[in-house]
Amino acid sequence: MEHPPPLVIRTATLPDGRSGIDLLVEAGRFTALGPALRVAAGTEVLEADGWLLSPPFVDAHFHLDSALSHGLPRVNVSGTLLEGIGLWGELKPLLTEEAIVERALQYCDWAVARGLLAIRSHVDVCDDRLLAVRALLDVKRRVAPWLDLQLVAFPQDGLLRAPGAMANLKRALDLGVEVVGGIPHFERTAEQGADSVRLLCELAAERGLRVDMHCDESDDPQSRHIETLAFHTQRLGLQGRVTGSHLTSMHSMDNYHASKLLPLIAEAGVHVVANPLINITLQGRHDSYPKRRGMTRVPELLAAGVNVGFGHDCVLDPWYALGSADMLEVAAMGLHVAQMTSLQGQRQCFDAVTVNNARILGLEGYGLDVGCRADAVLLQARSPEEAIRLRAQRLCVLRGGRVVARMAPATAELHLPGRPAHVDFTRQTTPALAGAGR
Ligand code: FE2
Repeated sequence: MEHPPPLVIRTATLPDGRSGIDLLVEAGRFTALGPALRVAAGTEVLEADGWLLSPPFVDAHFHLDSALSHGLPRVNVSGTLLEGIGLWGELKPLLTEEAIVERALQYCDWAVARGLLAIRSHVDVCDDRLLAVRALLDVKRRVAPWLDLQLVAFPQDGLLRAPGAMANLKRALDLGVEVVGGIPHFERTAEQGADSVRLLCELAAERGLRVDMHCDESDDPQSRHIETLAFHTQRLGLQGRVTGSHLTSMHSMDNYHASKLLPLIAEAGVHVVANPLINITLQGRHDSYPKRRGMTRVPELLAAGVNVGFGHDCVLDPWYALGSADMLEVAAMGLHVAQMTSLQGQRQCFDAVTVNNARILGLEGYGLDVGCRADAVLLQARSPEEAIRLRAQRLCVLRGGRVVARMAPATAELHLPGRPAHVDFTRQTTPALAGAGR
């Protein structure tokens, strides 16, 4: 797409608390930022009216090949991860490339409307036809003007457990899939899990690729593949390019072992992705009461200096019967499950669906600084914490300075004697919070 004409965004509030900020967009990038910018006559104007302008939402962990397939061929009765994997196995032979493309494109429409402009999606390579790989590479090309789709070669049925998985994974990389995936806790033994981590990290190092593994996605406190992943990350010099997804076993892990593990993850520069909506529903299914929450130790990882993002993981598929591409819903669930209710905790949850995920994907030019790509979402909220509280409307979504989606403000008519005719769910900043920028 050609660049749109210059545009100035007037009087925005930014996630760091600055307000009354104008941003000038030229040739698809932010070229100036500050209060009351002077711009050339005739420059198009977008009035932010003090609403929160954020860099777009980013999802660091998703499965676009299974999205929107809920009910095909049946629903997950037990609600467990393992029944979900079995159910996906029943569905795979029935899939067509066209159906995957159609569902994925529909999901990308939802994403753009929600201000979600970058998604890392795992794609199952345990299918000799590589149907889903071809479908999602096609989708990636088609949505590229408005959404960054990064694909992970994911051996869903186990790299060493499923016949031909390694060969298929390499074929997927040859076709253009750019991240190496894995699932060590699903291999036949812990030893084979560790072998799979080593082999996959070596493959990524050889090819100069990033790694993102489903890792320790269980309630088993003995599942410790994350330490193997951190070890090989360091051994192979992959710091900053490796992500451990889920790490739910850490929820149940012995506290002493966790205290040893957290600094090792930080030292290896391994990113972590928690998937709050999925972890809280899939984990703890074998518990009576008390039931574990299953999400990894997010505040403790952050305190140890680890970059932690939140992913949506699933929407309307064999593992999760809900969802609508709303990363604020993801942030809200993460906030509740991790009890991150302080002002700092709430803002960390907003970061977990924006800047932290952008680091995980390695997105170029992400942010609102001068020189960054003019991708942004205008939210009907005055602060990041209000955006989470309200799952705020996305008033306007910009890609390269072009408006790609708009949403009407949320309001409601009231028919009450002596009360206003319309209700506004936002509130004025209280004195205690005023100027509480980061
Ligand atoms: Fe996943």
